[in-house]
Order: sequence, then C-alpha cells, then structure tokens
Amino acid sequence: MNSKKFATQVIHSGDQAVQQTNPIFPPITTASTFVQPNIGEFGDFNYSRCDNPTRSAYESALAELEGGVYATATASGMAATALALELFPADSHAIVMSSVYGGTHRLFETLRSRTSGMSFSYVDLNDLAAVEACIQPNTQFIWIETPTNPLLELVDIEAVCQLAKQRELVSIVDNTFSTAWNQQPLALGADIVMLSTSKYIGGHSDLIGGALIAADKALAQQLDRCKTTVGAIASPFDSYLALRGLKTLDIRMERQSSNALKVAQWLEQQPTIEQVYYPGLETHPQHALCLKQMRTGGAVVSVRLKGDEEAVKQFVGKLQYFMLAESLGGVESMINHAATMSHAGVPEAEREKMGIYYQTLRLSVGIEDADDLIADLEQALNS
Ligand SMILES: Cc1ncc(COP(=O)(O)O)c(C=O)c1O
Repeated sequence: MNSKKFATQVIHSGDQAVQQTNPIFPPITTASTFVQPNIGEFGDFNYSRCDNPTRSAYESALAELEGGVYATATASGMAATALALELFPADSHAIVMSSVYGGTHRLFETLRSRTSGMSFSYVDLNDLAAVEACIQPNTQFIWIETPTNPLLELVDIEAVCQLAKQRELVSIVDNTFSTAWNQQPLALGADIVMLSTSKYIGGHSDLIGGALIAADKALAQQLDRCKTTVGAIASPFDSYLALRGLKTLDIRMERQSSNALKVAQWLEQQPTIEQVYYPGLETHPQHALCLKQMRTGGAVVSVRLKGDEEAVKQFVGKLQYFMLAESLGGVESMINHAATMSHAGVPEAEREKMGIYYQTLRLSVGIEDADDLIADLEQALNS
C-alpha cells in the first residue's frame, strides 16, 4: 500500500520499525549499546551513535514523508547543515541563496571559510544567469532556502535543481519553513532536503533538532558514513518527541496555514501596515510560483509596520497571543523582531539593503482560533 496520502503517512510511516511487543508507538530506547550474540554476529543495532531504534523509527518516517531513501536526524538544524558540508572537499565552492538564514550564513562565513577553506557565493537563485555566472571549477553544491526568512521570498526549486543537475552540482534545499506537507523538494529534483525539526516537525516548541534526507542511495551512504563519524545525532528522547509531533503535522500545518492566510488578508487591509509579505496572497510578486510548488502560502507572515521605533515597541508590547520569541512553527503564535533578534548580527545598512527594517516583524501563526488572533492584532495595532 504505497498510495497513502500525506495525512495517513504522518500517522503510519515508521510503523514497521516497531517490533516484538507491538507497542502502538516506538518506545524510547536509551541504551548506548546492544549485546551481540557472538563474535562476528551483529543484530540490527550495535551502538546508538550509529543507529538507535527510536531514532530509526523517526528517521524512516522523515524519509518517507519527504520522499527520500534515507534520513539522518541530528542534534539541531545547524548540526544538519554542518553535516551536509562534510560531503564535500575542503576547498569546495558553493552557491547560496542571497537571503539565506543568518545561522547558515554564519556557519559558512565565520567557520567553514576560515577552518576548511570553503568559499561561498550569495546570489538570488531566481536569477539563473547569475547562478551560471557563479559556477567555478570547484563548485560542488547549491544551497537553496525557500521561503526565506523573514521576507518569504521563494526560489523556483525545479528550475535551480535542473540547472544543478546539468552542471553536476548537488542541490540541497532547506525545507524548514514548509516541511514535506507544504512542498516536496526531492520530487522537484533536489538531491538533499535539510530541516530544522525544532520548528514545524516537532511543532510544540519543546525540542531542538535537525535532519537531512537523501534522494538516492549513493548520497545516503555518504551521509550515513559522515553521520557516524561526526556523531551529532538526535537523542532518543528528542527523536521520540519529534516523532510524536510529526503525527499531527498534517492537521497543524493545515490549521496554521489557513490561519496565516486569514491573518495576512486582514493585515493587508490595515492602514498602519506598510507591507505584508505572504506568498499565499494574490498580491505577492511570486504568488504564481507559490501555487506551482507549494500547497499553501505557509504559516509565516511578515509585515513592515508604519511608524517609528516606539510605535513598533508599543504594538509588540500590547500583543497577548503572539509571543515575542525566537523560533517559529510551534502550536502557539509567535512574533519575531528581525532587527534585534534573528538579524541582530547584520549591520543596519546591510540589513536595510536586504529589505529588513526596524519595523519588520515576522509572525509565526499558531493553531489558535483565527478570529482571536486577528482580534489580538487589531487591539495592538489600533488601540
Ligand atoms: C530556515 C532555517 N534553517 C535552519 C535553522 C537552524 O535550525 P536550529 O535552530 O534547529 O539549529 C533555522 C532556525 O531558525 C531556520 O529558520
């Protein structure tokens, strides 16, 4: 029965990993090691850095949902990104989406370019001629992130992955904001999906985790060797939490995305809002691409408020349900102030060149009632 739909997959993928006592949910196996029958005889599990029953159940679910042949669950999203870099030689060059997540940029620029001599070119991946122009003899991979944080720019995954294939480059897509529920990069031609599972996969703001999912066996084997060697794996408890979260991914994403659309449509009507960024809105410049590669516009909406710094502080201070916090993707609504939080490390002039102002706020829309969320925004904006 391979034809099951996403909502069934999120419940039943990983079932086959539960053995013997038939628990309906995989138990948390904390054992670091597993007893061998005799010298030279090995069971399915030997040492938990290599494989662990709880992690394996979770990994097989992630692989199935993203349509890959293999998944490895890591200690954080950044650990997954760092692990992906282990696939490539030290002097590799990579092409990266210009408005990539700040933590990814920091890893590439302040660690890898210094410690391993890797180099990175940042371009708008929608400009395929610019991507072509960046390709060097040592270019190994293209790092795609779509939608981007916080301005929700999209990248045409199929077009960029096609170019990557023609030029024999590995394509990696950070699918954190969408998850397989909203877009399926491997089906669009990507080689690897990267996830921060701290966000929608876990879904309850109670874990830090990441994952890499590979489209083919050769990459899977390489990733597995790198994972075992580096050892930045997800713990059994975090794997359990994430797998538990995954069971409700379908209904959470559905509610969060439909709430986000309502919130975005309402915000668009407000005279105190300078701009709304949400690819699910017909007015978004990349709405057609959203319809092509995403199921919905997603559950993150960004805005640029009118007014000065004090007005922004007053608005955020009055909110009751949108809590000021780093991160996104939990069942509770959150708000992030890019200038002092996610993009605090970027100098003001550079930040403004990217289109991120003091007035830019990112809303992670939760599963609360949409009317209550809109009422909260209204009282904070207009009272
Ligand atoms: C798009 C994106 N990629 C990667 C990460 C890093 O994930 P983690 O915080 O789990 O290390 C984040 C975290 O915010 C993110 O938003």
